[in-house]
Amino acid sequence: MSMMDKKGSAEIRVNNRTLVYPLYAGTEGEQAIDIDKLRKETGLITYDPGFANTGSCASGITFIDGEKGILRYRGYDVIDLAQNCEFIEVAYLLIHGELPNRQQKAAYSHLLNQHSLIHEDMIEFFRHYPEHSHPMAVLSAMAVSLSSFYPEMSGNYKEEIEMTVTRMLSKLRTIAAFSYKKSIGEPTIYPRHDLSYCENFLNMMFDSPLCEESYNPTMINALNKLLIIHADHEQNCSASVVRGVGSAGANLYASISAGICALWGPLHGGANQHVIEMLEQIQAEGGDVDKVIERAKNKRSPFRLMGFGHRVYKSYDPRAKIAKTLCNEVIASTNKHDPLLDIAMELEGKALADPYFQERGLYPNVDFYTGLTYREMGIPTDMFTVMFAIGRLPGWIAQWMEMKKDPHGRIARPRQIYTGSTARKVIRISRRK
Ligand code: ACO
Repeated sequence: MSMMDKKGSAEIRVNNRTLVYPLYAGTEGEQAIDIDKLRKETGLITYDPGFANTGSCASGITFIDGEKGILRYRGYDVIDLAQNCEFIEVAYLLIHGELPNRQQKAAYSHLLNQHSLIHEDMIEFFRHYPEHSHPMAVLSAMAVSLSSFYPEMSGNYKEEIEMTVTRMLSKLRTIAAFSYKKSIGEPTIYPRHDLSYCENFLNMMFDSPLCEESYNPTMINALNKLLIIHADHEQNCSASVVRGVGSAGANLYASISAGICALWGPLHGGANQHVIEMLEQIQAEGGDVDKVIERAKNKRSPFRLMGFGHRVYKSYDPRAKIAKTLCNEVIASTNKHDPLLDIAMELEGKALADPYFQERGLYPNVDFYTGLTYREMGIPTDMFTVMFAIGRLPGWIAQWMEMKKDPHGRIARPRQIYTGSTARKVIRISRRK
């Protein structure tokens, strides 16, 4: 616990015994009771479904104040970063701990370009996926396949990790664009050494042998900012998965691939796709927003308002604010009117005025407006969660690297309360009913 300050102790009364455990505090004042010795001393474990009260690690990467709607990476506010940086600067910040200077940024950009190709034999893989494969399935499979084509080098551990990290950051973007081209049956467009990280991605997505893509600065700016707001979010479901898989000693590719699978879930990053599908359904059914809100409030229905609510934010998600502004900017630049945006804004207004959502602190989360923005940028709905994954990648990498260096790190292995059958004997099959 070297990264946390000891702030006294906490007394816990269990079975007429008073136990004294150390209390630790982080740099922003949040406190935690260290129950490391609880089971040894009492035989008891804690029961915490969804780990809502459990700190799984000490981390110096991302700070969130869910009540105040604050999100900072390495101390910098996400709004500040989105206004003043490009995505690769934020990726560098998360992975290296500090923002790059001009030379470091140029060198990093060059390095990422140098590693942006994927092995030609890997490109063969794309040909054999069925036509309507979900790009998240392709992305996770390709991410772990990188470990066969680019095995971690033996030798200097730091350099080995650097190289794997660079390959991962650069190649995942190429894989994402190639999987899109495969899904629409167009030839793949290779990465170019003269383009920036985000321009390169848009070029690989939208350029074609028939028409040259022209880069709209509003789109490049929006993509940079969208990736920045997704770049990390402390110990969320996918980051915990990345750390958990890595804690078993699995390599970075395998850990990231597992994180991609976790992100795919509709209660996590998959929500951005489901928001658009929900809005399209509302539109198809005549635009009755009240009906949808009533359905979301009905406890007999499993339906939830997609893009609303968050485990940590109990106020407006700061990322949703940025995404809403970007959405309006991108729509203005295309001179088009999107009726889904009208439905989204009506839904947001009505939900925020409704006591059900107010009492539970349910506000729009990052996924509510990002899907609409991607849609306006020409990115298809089933690619939305892939976009989230490209943005979250530096965060996953930073979490994995921090986990590797943690002197108190152990394999992730929670306990359980067993509720199954008590001990019994096998009855021979001939006598079983
Ligand atoms: N619509 C309707 N009711 C909701 C919603 C919602 N979107 N979200 C939470 N609630 C209700 C729950 O039914 C529960 O009500 P109750 O107290 O009467 O039982 C209460 O609010 C608390 O909800 P929990 O499920 O306990 O909250 P939890 O922290 O476990 O879940 C989650 C958070 C998964 C994000 C949830 O709000 C949700 O399912 N939202 C919709 C999916 C979504 O947008 N996910 C993206 C999250 S952001 C991200 O991962 C990048």
